[in-house]
Amino acid sequence: MAAPPVSTRRSVRAVIAIVAATLAAGAALALEPAEIDRRADDLIARMTLEEKVGQLTLVSQGPGYRPEMVLSGRVGAVINFNNPQDIAAAQAAARRSRLGIPLLFGLDVLHGFRTMFPLPLAETATFDPDLARLAATWAAREAAYVGVQWTYAPMADLSRDPRWGRMIEGFGEDPLLGRSFTSARIAGFHAGGLATSVKHFAGYSAGAGGRDYDETEIPPATLHDLYLPPFKAAVEAGTETVMSAFNALNGIPSTANPALLTGLLRDTWGFDGFVVSDWSAISELVAHGIAADDAEAGRIAIQAGVDMDMMSGVYERTLADEVKAGRVPQAVLDRAVRRVLRTKLRVGLFERSDADPSRTDAVFPTPESRQAARAVARESMVLLRNEAGTLPLAAGRSIAVVGALATSPLDLIGPHGARGHAQDGIDVLGAIKERAAGAGASVAFAPGCDGMCADGSGFDAAIDAAGRADLVVAVLGEPVDMTGEAASRAYLTPPGRQRELLERLVATGKPVVLVLIAGRPLELGPVVDRLAALLLAWYPGTEGGHALAEILFGDVNPSGKLPVSYPRTVGQVPLVYNRLPTGRPTRADNRFTLRYFDERVDPLYPFGFGLSYTRFAFSDLVLPRDGLSQGDTLQVTATVRNAGDRAGRVAVQLYLRDLVASRSRPVRELKAFRKIALEPGERRSLTLEVPVAELGFHGEDGSYRVEPGRFQVWLGEDSAADLTGFVEVR
Ligand code: BGC
Repeated sequence: MAAPPVSTRRSVRAVIAIVAATLAAGAALALEPAEIDRRADDLIARMTLEEKVGQLTLVSQGPGYRPEMVLSGRVGAVINFNNPQDIAAAQAAARRSRLGIPLLFGLDVLHGFRTMFPLPLAETATFDPDLARLAATWAAREAAYVGVQWTYAPMADLSRDPRWGRMIEGFGEDPLLGRSFTSARIAGFHAGGLATSVKHFAGYSAGAGGRDYDETEIPPATLHDLYLPPFKAAVEAGTETVMSAFNALNGIPSTANPALLTGLLRDTWGFDGFVVSDWSAISELVAHGIAADDAEAGRIAIQAGVDMDMMSGVYERTLADEVKAGRVPQAVLDRAVRRVLRTKLRVGLFERSDADPSRTDAVFPTPESRQAARAVARESMVLLRNEAGTLPLAAGRSIAVVGALATSPLDLIGPHGARGHAQDGIDVLGAIKERAAGAGASVAFAPGCDGMCADGSGFDAAIDAAGRADLVVAVLGEPVDMTGEAASRAYLTPPGRQRELLERLVATGKPVVLVLIAGRPLELGPVVDRLAALLLAWYPGTEGGHALAEILFGDVNPSGKLPVSYPRTVGQVPLVYNRLPTGRPTRADNRFTLRYFDERVDPLYPFGFGLSYTRFAFSDLVLPRDGLSQGDTLQVTATVRNAGDRAGRVAVQLYLRDLVASRSRPVRELKAFRKIALEPGERRSLTLEVPVAELGFHGEDGSYRVEPGRFQVWLGEDSAADLTGFVEVR
């Protein structure tokens, strides 16, 4: 990137100084726990019933927002305020209320505020939690700069179903990735100055049929082994709040589940922040058939442990009367209010200076935030296929770029764009042209069709452009509206006639590099075997265009790995690597084994998979010879060699299987990973460690145990790694 002009550099320095000062001030505000309790109790003693209910009420910026609610102390927190003028005005109203209790300003800040980073699933593909921490730090810094204080993130929902559009907001199908990335994101948000709300507790991602908001059935042992550990990690990482989920889990809506929200979360895990409902989820208890009316819904939710009502207005409308009538004990109300006030005191809201209305998020992106966004985007893209070294692109060739997504920077931002602006980024075509100019390559463009590709009238022009070029870069996938919340899909194909366009491009005989812009693995059909290369770019953010061009032209060696298995077809879903074994493992010569009649049973690309422009070789596996005791740490050492002629980064992955146990255990489980950089020819001896305490599993009653016996170990660069050995746990 060219050096920024002097005036920009000065403003950047000013921004960094202000951000640093804000953070330092926040750190200095930390109050002693006893002082927090004293002040919370003192306020509670002085509050009216209506003011107490107010602290449990969260409203949104928008048509329903009335400043007088804040002035009269009937709102405790707000969502969707995202500029400092509105934030300052609302906070000033709160300060003028009778007790002057400040509002908490929340927003969905997932993958950036103004500078957009890749979506969380894409960040997870880096297999480098430090990069997720960096992204979260920047997102928080920028949001905190304009006065946002609280993010509804990270999403800690393990997702095993790509039909579910929200898969892109999480970390994929593996609980270790879930724990590592959830903790890293919380640390990053905190470092940048935001409080967090881990969500959606619990089981939201397993909606039947991949349908958003649908019921989920998760057996207790599976819940404890797979779905809950990332949430537990969030509590350990100090999340200030937890968001309860919309769904019914095993027949009980999570918003009405005391065993989850109080028993597990507080009594077992020791969480002592507050729980906020998801959007209107309390009133939805009526539609769930759990409550007859709003008043009952409110009673059930607050008793279960939902402290704050996001946008259903149930607490506001009914709670005071319920308390007066004795149907909700005063102590239950006070307990929720205390949790909210303590959290506000803990994060320093009472002492913090309010948002400065003269600020603007237009000071972002800065050169530094762009650099960070590009660093993450570079490592998030996953090279899935590269026949005969098609990539990186050779110099001096003529390239036909095809696909409307190549000229849409908005679609590079992805869902939950916060204050991201399309014009802050460069589109794919622009970035390819910019880079091609330096490589003596020529670039022609034909969209073929628009993003949804219902109309094929532009296909001929695209085929002509392909015919005149040496190589085609097709940029296809899901326009942003097709992914995220409320974007469950029954088909996993690219929309409209995109596949037909791709098939026609391939039929020209020109090598076709497919760049997929998408929130999940997409079903490409048989044409995938005829692609010259396939790069899953996800929604890569503000610097995504540049990062993509760097990969295509070989300035950057791709190193992303799939955080989810890539199915061949939607009919295989759910298809995950860490499945339980069957008594009839797949055999090609035996119909009566685990198979489909009409499709292969394995994924198109396995979990953890991703190619590089170099090759890595793994050898010399060293495992402990003696049995390990329960308190030990398993150390697995191997040599990793860069066997190619380019420098590269590789995510080394360690998998284990508990061979004989009292319950069937997964055929493989990721137990450790580390991303390392190797120069051409360089070899490194690497040791990955797993505490033996992490080799256990849960029973149906939620109890955890590590059983003695033999474990098989694999080490390599994806879940199909074949360097293997055995260890014994005593
Ligand atoms: C989503 C949450 C989000 C909330 C506020 C809900 O629809 O499920 O994840 O934080 O809206 O935007």
